[in-house]
Amino acid sequence: MTRTIQPLGYGRQSIDEDDRAAVLSVLDSNHLTQGIEVDRFEQGLADYVGAKYAVAVSSGTAALHIACLAAGLKNNDLAVTSTLTFVATANAPIYCGAKTSLLDIDPLDLSLSLEGLSIFLEDNPETKAILPIHFAGLAGNMARLRSITKDRIVIEDASHALGGENFDGSKVGSCTHSDMCVFSFHPVKPITTAEGGAVTTNDPKLAHTLAMLRNHGIERDPDLFDNTPPEQRGPWSYEQQQLGFNYRLSDLQAALGVTQLSKLDHFLDRRRKISAHYDEQFSGAEYFQPIQSSAEFRSRSGHHLFVLQIDFEALNKSRKQVMLNLREKGIGTQVHYIPVHKQPYHQGLEDRSISDFHHAEQYYSQALSIPFYPSMTDSDVDRVIGEIRSELA
Ligand SMILES: Cc1ncc(COP(=O)(O)O)c(C=O)c1O
Repeated sequence: MTRTIQPLGYGRQSIDEDDRAAVLSVLDSNHLTQGIEVDRFEQGLADYVGAKYAVAVSSGTAALHIACLAAGLKNNDLAVTSTLTFVATANAPIYCGAKTSLLDIDPLDLSLSLEGLSIFLEDNPETKAILPIHFAGLAGNMARLRSITKDRIVIEDASHALGGENFDGSKVGSCTHSDMCVFSFHPVKPITTAEGGAVTTNDPKLAHTLAMLRNHGIERDPDLFDNTPPEQRGPWSYEQQQLGFNYRLSDLQAALGVTQLSKLDHFLDRRRKISAHYDEQFSGAEYFQPIQSSAEFRSRSGHHLFVLQIDFEALNKSRKQVMLNLREKGIGTQVHYIPVHKQPYHQGLEDRSISDFHHAEQYYSQALSIPFYPSMTDSDVDRVIGEIRSELA
C-alpha cells in the first residue's frame, strides 16, 4: 500500500470552526462590505498591540501606500528602507512620487542596518521617511532607530511581526518608537483575513487621514465638511476632500480577523514551541544554522518565518537541488527574499543610490525558509527535521 505524503508549505493559514462560523454569519447578514465587523477588528487590533488607533485595509501593500501618503510623501521626497524585504515596502513611497533608497541589513537581527542608516541620514538630511522591516517577525532596535531618525516619519513594516515585542517589551504595533506601523494579513502571516492589512498609530490626525484615504478621500462627518453649507446638507451628504482609493476591508474578512486575533497568542505559543524544537534539533549541524536564534531574539519575535542559513558551497549542493529534493519528499521551502536592489524595476530607476549590500547578499546566498506554521502537527515537525537533516548532511 502506498502512503500519500501531504506536502508541507513553508507557511499556511490555520482555520477552525469558529473562523468558518464567523464568516458564514456575516454572509447571512445584510452587510458584507466595511461595517461593524471592521470596527470590531480595528478595536481588537488596537487593543492587542496597545495603540490608540487601527485602520484596516484591503492588503498590507494598501496599508503601506496610505501610510506613506498620510506621512506626506510626495514628488521627489526621499524615503529609505532595507533591501531585505518584499518589494511592496520599497514600492510604497514610489506610488506617492517619492524615491526609495535601499540600505543593507544588520547581520544579526537582519533588519535595516542602523549604522548604515546613520551614515545615510548624515549624507541625505532631507530624507523624509524611514521604513524599517521586522524581518521574519523580529523587531529591530526601534528605540535606537528613533534616536537616529529624530523627527522624521517612521513607518514600521511589521507585516511579519504581529504578536512580537520591541526590545523594551512594548508590543510591535504600539508605535512606541514610530509614527505608524503596518501589518499584512495574507494567509501565511501571523493571522489572516485572506487578503488584508492595517495601519496602527497613536496620532488622531494620521488615523483620520488614513481612514479617508482608504475610502476615496471621502469625509462623511458634517462637522468636518469644507464647502457644503449647513442648509444644503442632508443624510446623503459627503465630501471628497482628497484623492483616495477603495482600499476597504470587507466585513467578511474582518469577521475572520476577529476570530483569528482571538487565537493569535495561541498561534504564537505553538510557533515558539516549534521554533524551540527546530533550534534544539538543528544545533551543531555542520552545514546550516537557523537565523535569529539567540534567546533574546527568540523570546520577543513574532516567529513568522523559520529560515536556515545553509553553506551550499561546503555542502556541495546547489540551493535549487536542495529545494527540488525536499519538494520530492513533500517538504516545501521558499527564499525570503530576493533583495529588492536585485529587481530589474528598482535597478532601472533613475537617481537610484548605490549602497554596499554585503550583508544582504551574504544572507540571500544562504537563505532557505522551511515549513513553519501553527497547525503543523508534532509528526509534521519531526518529518521536516528528519528530511532536512538528511538532505543537508
Ligand atoms: C515585509 C512585507 N511587506 C509588505 C507585504 C505586503 O503585504 P500584502 O501581501 O498583504 O499586500 C508583505 C507580504 O508579503 C511583506 O512580507
